[in-house]
Amino acid sequence: MTLKKKIRLSGDKSISHRALMLACVSSGNSRLSNLCGGADVQSTINCLRACGAIIDKKDKHYTIYSSSLKNPNFHLNCGNSGTTMRLITGLLSGQKINAVLYGDDSLSKRPMDRIVEPLKKMGANLDYINNQLVLKKSTINGGQISNPTSSAQVKSSIILAALGGKAKTVLTESYNTRDHTEKMVSYYSHNSIESSGKKIVINPSKMEMKNMEIPGDISKASFLIAYACLSTHSNLLFENILINPRRMGFIKTLNKMGANISIENKKNKYGEFIGNIHVKSNNRLKNIHVNDKDVRDMIDEIPILSVVAAYSKGIMTITGLSELKLKESNRIIAIVSNLNSMGCDIREGRDSILIKGQKRLYNTSLNTFSDHRIAMSFYIASLFAKHTPILNESECIKVSFPDFFDKLGKIKI
Ligand code: S3P
Repeated sequence: MTLKKKIRLSGDKSISHRALMLACVSSGNSRLSNLCGGADVQSTINCLRACGAIIDKKDKHYTIYSSSLKNPNFHLNCGNSGTTMRLITGLLSGQKINAVLYGDDSLSKRPMDRIVEPLKKMGANLDYINNQLVLKKSTINGGQISNPTSSAQVKSSIILAALGGKAKTVLTESYNTRDHTEKMVSYYSHNSIESSGKKIVINPSKMEMKNMEIPGDISKASFLIAYACLSTHSNLLFENILINPRRMGFIKTLNKMGANISIENKKNKYGEFIGNIHVKSNNRLKNIHVNDKDVRDMIDEIPILSVVAAYSKGIMTITGLSELKLKESNRIIAIVSNLNSMGCDIREGRDSILIKGQKRLYNTSLNTFSDHRIAMSFYIASLFAKHTPILNESECIKVSFPDFFDKLGKIKI
């Protein structure tokens, strides 16, 4: 019998970005605690401060003072963070701000037309020129808008712009994606947003954020959960984790594969579900088919799922992976090339992969492609392989999970 180990993680990254941005356009002061550590959320804080937001940090708490945003004196550096760049552009469009936003080499390669087109239709004076988003003082008119991409970042950019608009916006989505922005706006305002099915109606209005303790990050937990599932005799309890149904794809899939993961003490806080995740390791997992809809509920967890599949019984097929090519790296190439070099039989289709699980993999040098989620996934993969783990670098992990090695050290048997 192994002793149950309790783990707490810093706040969810998606929730942290949104809470900071919405707090800046709320009336009254807000206090945020357990914000996600790491460079991505720091990029959001830096950009908001450059736009005049007053954000103070004392111990682990951030206070965001009510003030209106103004034109920044310099270009806004979004670093590696797609969420920062896409969501802040929406937010600033609705606040009549002039700004130029840019990012690092990886972010410069990622598509921005997906926000430029809808925001322009809504009235934004916005262009993407030489890898920079150039936003001029805009008036958001409201009206009907549709989002053809499977992206919560695009949806959120539109909602944040619409909140500062002149009139009601009716947004029609093509896919269901993580719904944190809708939930947060609805929790902290009166009648600002109504969503039903794929239709979201946004009524411009002021929010009142007040205080929020950000729930633990389900995406960070996924790497440790994968480690626990691949080990024998694990018994881990992740406390106070965000368990929004649109983020539960990885856990649901592991359970379908035969894992023993349960949710305990589920409660509703700030309009989101939060709970404890209890993981006990079981027998070797069995691979299954994962379809497009499942993928949307675990879009960031496909690299670590592929690692778990490579050590499980049978064949895993995953379809609907086109969005993976547009992340911090082309994650299909990163997964296929690393698993291949470890001796795994993995095949790539147009938007799909097929992984033949095996008991043993071998370490060669693994390439992180400077992508935090690839680095963490393949570090976990290397722990179960023959020979010493070798990642070409691990600096990129600081983007989302600076204490990854620390937390992993605490759960290692
Ligand atoms: C995020 C949405 C997802 C995800 C990203 C965070 C968010 O991106 O991959 O890590 O916070 O809205 P897409 O919306 O582009 O799929």
